[in-house]
Amino acid sequence: MLLALAVLLVAWSWWDSRLPGAYSAEEMGVPDYGGGPATHRGHQPPLGAPGGGDPVDGADDAADLVSVADLIASPSQPDAEPDVRVELEARTAQVTPENGKAFAGFTLNGSSPGPEIRARQGDLVEVVVHNVDVAGGATLHWHGVDVPNAMDGVAGVTQDAVAPGESFTYRFVAEDAGTYWYHSHQISHRQVVAGLFGALVIEPSTPSDQASDVAVLLHTYPSNSRSINGTVGALWHEAAPGDRVRVRIANTDNGNTAVWVAGGDFRVLAIDGTDVNGPTALRDQRVPLTAGARADLEVTVPATGAIRVQAPGVSLVVGPAGSNAPETPSPSAVFDPITYGTPTDLGFDATAPDRSFVYNIGRRPGFLDGRPGYWWTVNGNIGMAAPMYMVGEGDVVTMRITNQSGEGHPMHLHGHHAVVLSRNGVPATGSPWWVDSLDVDHGEAYEVAFVADNPGVWMDHCHNLPHAVEGLITHLMYDGVTTPFRMGKDTGNEPE
Ligand code: C2O
Ligand code: CU
Repeated sequence: MLLALAVLLVAWSWWDSRLPGAYSAEEMGVPDYGGGPATHRGHQPPLGAPGGGDPVDGADDAADLVSVADLIASPSQPDAEPDVRVELEARTAQVTPENGKAFAGFTLNGSSPGPEIRARQGDLVEVVVHNVDVAGGATLHWHGVDVPNAMDGVAGVTQDAVAPGESFTYRFVAEDAGTYWYHSHQISHRQVVAGLFGALVIEPSTPSDQASDVAVLLHTYPSNSRSINGTVGALWHEAAPGDRVRVRIANTDNGNTAVWVAGGDFRVLAIDGTDVNGPTALRDQRVPLTAGARADLEVTVPATGAIRVQAPGVSLVVGPAGSNAPETPSPSAVFDPITYGTPTDLGFDATAPDRSFVYNIGRRPGFLDGRPGYWWTVNGNIGMAAPMYMVGEGDVVTMRITNQSGEGHPMHLHGHHAVVLSRNGVPATGSPWWVDSLDVDHGEAYEVAFVADNPGVWMDHCHNLPHAVEGLITHLMYDGVTTPFRMGKDTGNEPE
């Protein structure tokens, strides 16, 4: 009898986990209101909710709903002249990183990484992506840039994947200066590692203190070639003795890395695109960089020779022509942003949140879309039974992220920056530590806060991209927003 029951239960959870051929992001997850008003105009009865979920509030005011496709910044209306315009051709190619090994991958305008895009704060940026022959389709997501939702580039959520022979135009105002990167958000676990990414730098509107700046992307290609801006080994950036140089570093891999500086002091000027308040000089520390994360380091070229910024397997030598600096092993001391710099006003009151969520990451056996496995869980649930975080525009939100899954996860929230309030119960005491990509190790607990000021449907997922395929995805959904796009095997949209 018990056995029969157990078999029935397993059969039911298998049956229940299967996804239809086409479904909406609005159906993903069980609404979680975080203690705020339980309004979810636009949210459909969740696929994963026992009993099919709640009835939809305000189903008859469908006319009041805003489509994600209409969430564009007003200055970037189709008729405005862009300040920066870039055309990118996505292709399937045999890619050979400089000094590295070839692999079957993808290029943007013939190379990987794609071209570095530079804009100045306040610029209207337009990027047209043409998919020449990437069979699975492609998109571009502006990792770390809080773009309007229609420009977020998530296939099946904010747009359809761009099919071979088709184009899509992204337009957004470069509001926040900083170091960012872009990548495909269609079949991202394959397309990003195999080449569809590049750097995006938004320069501050006021001139910076540094003599020059350089962006570097750390990336490990499928042929195991560990590269810096597509080159295996070392790159060189010309600078004069005494120059202070801003080195903008992004980790575009699925795993963690670290960077360090040999032979001199450095400062961490920015984390995930946001300037640190009152950055002080550091020495002999390695700066951890989780998947998707960025750090801007300031280094000073010595009177003789050069200074070397290193990461495992790759480095950037900064100095005059012909200069060099020795390689050094990774320091054992680890930079900790939670105490670095000087506190300053957050711009909102994180002690009085309108909604408080928990995002507990775990792992257990079960079914994900009918497949048995040992899947990631959010608040104990797999796939569609995970929460959908529901917010209203203007809400102050806190989120407690914990991890008891046995592995670390680089958690990435689209469209917003969150500030770290505490880690493992210890309050943050340095500069406000704003993140879009936060490493949450096994056993850790972070409390973060943000203002829900960018309406849309936003992914909040693990940036170890195969983990996203394995179910480590939720969405942050605004009340009153709806999406016309669909995911699933019949739709051609597969954001993970
Ligand atoms: Cu770097 Cu969901 O993305
Ligand atoms: Cu993960």
